[in-house]
Amino acid sequence: MFSYEKKLQYPVKIKTPNPKLASFIISQYGGPDGELGASLRYLSQRYAMPYAELKGLLTDIGTEELGHLEMIGAIVHQLTRNISDTDARIAEFAPYFVDHTTGVYPTAASGFPWSAASMAVKGDVIADLTEDMAAEQKARVTYDNILRLCDDPDVTDVIRFLREREVVHFQRFGEAVRLAKEKMDQKNIYFTNPVTDK
Ligand SMILES: [Fe+2]
Repeated sequence: MFSYEKKLQYPVKIKTPNPKLASFIISQYGGPDGELGASLRYLSQRYAMPYAELKGLLTDIGTEELGHLEMIGAIVHQLTRNISDTDARIAEFAPYFVDHTTGVYPTAASGFPWSAASMAVKGDVIADLTEDMAAEQKARVTYDNILRLCDDPDVTDVIRFLREREVVHFQRFGEAVRLAKEKMDQKNIYFTNPVTDK
């Protein structure tokens, strides 16, 4: 079970609305490398993970990603709160506005709604952990791209925090792969599944 703490992992306090920026940042809410997919990927992969410490790692990082999802939701909300009709007509934001007004909806910046097809749960130790390392790198690149599009220090400060966490997660999954390999047959260079590959 989860217990809810009514505060963000890192504070989000944006003074100036900017719907154009929100239309890009929403991708880390419901895009292919966003926080919703990250949390569901790890919190789903953990069931088939045979090693207790790695199951714990997936639970730990998956839960933190839920906290990041909440932060991205807060950023999008604060960037679009109380906007004028003139702001709603900004070309980049108008397509989102017509479908969702200023509600926070899990979609990619390109307009494609969140899909479970953007994440994987293979039920194989090496396949899943390798997927997780790639996912963290893709999330980091998305944050890099957002930083290139963003000038507001209230936003970049939070995005930099989230980017840093992706780097830490990548490192932790790297350690997890090393640990998993130590536990598996070291002579099995392909790291095939010991359950089926006798
Ligand atoms: Fe992450």
